[in-house]
Amino acid sequence: MSQSPVMVNPLKEGLKIEQASEPCAMVVLGAHGDLTKRKLVPALFALHQQGLLPPGFCIVGMSRTKMSDDEFRQSMARSIQQFAPEIPFDQSTWERFAAFLYYLPSNFGKEEGLFDLAKLLKELEQRHGTRGNNIFYMATPPSLYGQIVDRLAESGLTQMHPGLKAPWPRIIVEKPFGRDLSSARELDLHIHNSFEEEQVYRIDHYLGKETVQNIMVLRFANGIFEPLWNRQHVDHVQITNAETIGVEGRGGYYEEAGNMRDMIQNHMLQLLSLVAMEPPISLDAEATRDEKTKVLKSMRPFDLKSLKKFAVRGQYGQGFIAGQPVPGYRQEESVSGESKTETFTALKLFIDNWRWADVPFYVRSGKRLGRAITEVAIHFKRAPHRLFSLDADDGGQALGPNALVLQIQPDEGICLKFATKQPGPTTQLRWLSMDFKYGTAFGVRSPSAYERLVHDCIQGDATLFARTDAVDASWSLISPILQEWAQTPCNQFPNYAAGSWGPAESDEMLLADGRAWRII
Ligand SMILES: NC(=O)c1ccc[n+]([C@@H]2O[C@H](COP(=O)([O-])OP(=O)(O)OC[C@H]3O[C@@H](n4cnc5c(N)ncnc54)[C@H](OP(=O)(O)O)[C@@H]3O)[C@@H](O)[C@H]2O)c1
Repeated sequence: MSQSPVMVNPLKEGLKIEQASEPCAMVVLGAHGDLTKRKLVPALFALHQQGLLPPGFCIVGMSRTKMSDDEFRQSMARSIQQFAPEIPFDQSTWERFAAFLYYLPSNFGKEEGLFDLAKLLKELEQRHGTRGNNIFYMATPPSLYGQIVDRLAESGLTQMHPGLKAPWPRIIVEKPFGRDLSSARELDLHIHNSFEEEQVYRIDHYLGKETVQNIMVLRFANGIFEPLWNRQHVDHVQITNAETIGVEGRGGYYEEAGNMRDMIQNHMLQLLSLVAMEPPISLDAEATRDEKTKVLKSMRPFDLKSLKKFAVRGQYGQGFIAGQPVPGYRQEESVSGESKTETFTALKLFIDNWRWADVPFYVRSGKRLGRAITEVAIHFKRAPHRLFSLDADDGGQALGPNALVLQIQPDEGICLKFATKQPGPTTQLRWLSMDFKYGTAFGVRSPSAYERLVHDCIQGDATLFARTDAVDASWSLISPILQEWAQTPCNQFPNYAAGSWGPAESDEMLLADGRAWRII
């Protein structure tokens, strides 16, 4: 008899909870798109290789392009090899995987769009033993999400049998979830007409990253950090998400989104909530999500009259990345020559609760910056009394402040900065760091974020997915800024050169508080 595959959830390791995956079919709506090719199918193939897909499983790809099952399989084989070369590809493993891959062309905009799907899923239930459980993965342009949910409901694919836990439908929704508070609420209402909240998995791939999950382990599995993790000891927190790339051919999408919608509303605020949350009462999905949502609901609303002190926007002009000249944002394909879209955001945020009162959280995110890096830096308060004199050689850096840096990507790891005495007859201080690197410490490939998240959804574990109240709270915080910015377009764009660290106003925001961005 085949055993149910299990995957240890690192967040639950301490409790030794292991769950068997339930049989199911996964329907990928938008299977001819970039996301499916680059991330989703490679993740599913990697799960298959590790024996982590359930015994009764199959995948149905759907999009407008006409293709046979075999053409779809060949296209996916090419994508895995092209976009995920780190995953070993051998023909016999691939053939076993390809045997449960299917394709159904369809136009979701048309009423009859999903009628054939119900019939196909019934056949596959018999053939693969999926027991009628279905996951619908929304990988289409977001404007189609509402229509697709309606079509699924019309085809009877969202129905649950009263009183029974299975067969179940689940839905995975890709970002962006709405483009402001009202559209996010509208989409939520639409989805909730057909799905209960516990069936909805709003994906935020940042939460699937190993290092992001490690934030909770670092904080709550160790005794030494948490006593310092509060306003008594922390001076401020800096969260940086810097990309060196531009819009990479996705100018049309980016013109509509901008940096605030693309990065801050979802990834950065989710990251911040993990850093700032209280310890959950258990590792149950709801307990963890309750604490994260409380952080988002405690964030101080922006005072629009003095917005410039708290929110900076930028757009890159031409410049140099790694010594090579690169065009400005307005010269990118599908971008208006007079675009007012922000490619950089810096925010000063406050969490009005007992733990964090008056501790600033500075968040910056941008494209075409000096270095590709995502990190969270906890800056501690300086030692209360200055016993050692300033060292002229290092500008006094050795006298603090200490910083604990959680490196999310690349070079995933943790480093603690502290002062030490240089060997020698005089007392000269030097600033050093204690470094832990994931790659060297464990020497194994970390699962991709999509591997982790898709597997969690198959297991019915929603811990790492955004809940409706968290999405609502984050849009409530940033929608007023977006409105204000839309009404007062910035006339100084472009206001930073590609390859720099963003507009001068971003540095000035911290300087006004007597602080500076960490030099990375
Ligand atoms: N790409 C990424 O790395 C990434 C990362 C994070 C989130 N996302 C999100 O994931 C979603 C998909 O992104 P993407 O980059 O994969 O987009 P994409 O490359 O434009 O692909 C969109 C897919 O939707 C299909 N489609 C569009 N209109 C359709 C219709 N009326 N009926 C049936 N199928 C239709 C397309 O089918 P045809 O090609 O056959 O027309 C294509 O397969 C978006 O919400 C995006 O924001 C993407």
